[in-house]
Amino acid sequence: MRDSFWHSLSLKTRLALLYGGLLAVVLCLLGGVLYLNTRSFLLDATAKRIRAQAKPVIEHWLYPAEFMPPLWGQSPPKTRNSIDLERIASFLARDLTSRDTVALVLDRQGRVLAVGRRLPEEPEAPSPQPFYYRRALAGENEVNYTTWLNRRHLLVLFIPLRWAPGSEEILGVVQLSTLLTPVDKILFRQRLVLIVGIGLALLVGAALGLFLTTSVLGDLTRMVSTCRAIALGNLGQRVNLPHRRDEVGELAQAFDHMVERIEASFAAQKRFVANAAHELRTPVTVLLGSLEVLMRGAQDDPTLSAGLMQNMYREAKGLSRLCEELLDLSRLDLSSHVKKELADLETFFSSYMEKAALLAQGRALSLEKGPSLAAELDLGMLEQMLNNLLDNAVRHTREGDSISLGWNQGDGWLEIWIADGGEGIHSQDLPHIFEPFYQGMRGKEAGGTGLGLTLVKAMVEAHGGRVQVESEPGHGTRFTLFFPLDGPQED
Ligand SMILES: Nc1ncnc2c1ncn2[C@@H]1O[C@H](COP(=O)(O)OP(=O)(O)O)[C@@H](O)[C@H]1O
Ligand SMILES: [Mg+2]
Repeated sequence: MRDSFWHSLSLKTRLALLYGGLLAVVLCLLGGVLYLNTRSFLLDATAKRIRAQAKPVIEHWLYPAEFMPPLWGQSPPKTRNSIDLERIASFLARDLTSRDTVALVLDRQGRVLAVGRRLPEEPEAPSPQPFYYRRALAGENEVNYTTWLNRRHLLVLFIPLRWAPGSEEILGVVQLSTLLTPVDKILFRQRLVLIVGIGLALLVGAALGLFLTTSVLGDLTRMVSTCRAIALGNLGQRVNLPHRRDEVGELAQAFDHMVERIEASFAAQKRFVANAAHELRTPVTVLLGSLEVLMRGAQDDPTLSAGLMQNMYREAKGLSRLCEELLDLSRLDLSSHVKKELADLETFFSSYMEKAALLAQGRALSLEKGPSLAAELDLGMLEQMLNNLLDNAVRHTREGDSISLGWNQGDGWLEIWIADGGEGIHSQDLPHIFEPFYQGMRGKEAGGTGLGLTLVKAMVEAHGGRVQVESEPGHGTRFTLFFPLDGPQED
């Protein structure tokens, strides 16, 4: 239940809460330790001062000069009959009492022998606590505790009264209680400083944390709204955070890059469909026009109708070819249609040259064999690629010109090439010939579709390879297909 509430909060709120909570805990712990330390130090110092003040007074009443160790030579009296504690108790108590400290003298049984308080402004003494004065009677020198009496804070301490200085024998106890007003004043001020300081630090910390999370997460929020806009079809949108060099900036850059690619591929697809529709429309218009002329009675004129028929046949053939190529392309887009088999190139080419001779239309066709080599290839596709290239070569050469094919082994690549001595490709056309439906001037005249080289490129890329073209206008063209060779294939 609480878990889902936590996750229902925004990341910004969660971070701020975590950050603020942690800061508060750390500051309070530190402040508490500091405060307790000061308090115990002040109480300790007060107790020491009171004890130091009491010591000479106690010694004066308990050990008169003749019982003290002599300054010069004489040894102290060996025996001492008694100390009449009851007799000196009232003097002792009186002398130990001052404006803020009151003394009580207790005997071994815990009876109060004397109270030092005489004046009304002197504080009242708390009644002695057996737990504490028994410890003093047992010989403990530093028994202190704090207590409240009539709303006044007191430090109470006990001093054992000994038979002689350093003796084990204890006659009674003095209880001194002193007002803690000055200590409490200092502690109050310290508490105030700590509370205000911690509050200020928390405020500044929270503001800083909020600023940081807002600056980090604000850009994420921006990305979310950009995503939504793109989802609605606005592909031109970008997050655009070039000034950010951190992870969020990298994410934004990767995102923008992705959208750019998607936009480009969308545009290419649109262009492709438009081109395809255009290419289909021309032959259909011609067909329709010819049919209309025929229906209006042209069939009565045998020469005219024969020409029209021929026209229609050519257009229909072009249409069917366009459909075939479009289908081939769409199949390749579905990818993984490559069915590779290990093929010996010499065998493949010797059988291919027989079919090629039928397409050559009087061109001088020759094969230049490369090293004997076997490679993993889709032979159906290879044949189609060569057919397309050969078809182009035939259409852009004159009768009697030479066309040669061959293969070679490059560095990790199988190179299959076809070269012609024809008209070549204009340098303006060269960068575009692999684009769908792109045709040079003569290509259009020759009645192609502009998809032949697009198919070649797609097929060689489906093999993991690439295609390269070199051409010199007026001298000829050479296409090279590169197929990757995995490992040594020599046999
Ligand atoms: N061997 C070649 N010699 C000269 N130009 C060529 C040759 N091969 C291709 N081209 C040029 O590249 C264009 C695109 O070729 P392709 O994609 O096969 O389309 P198409 O052959 O249907 O025109 C052709 O129109 C032509 O201008
Ligand atoms: Mg072609």
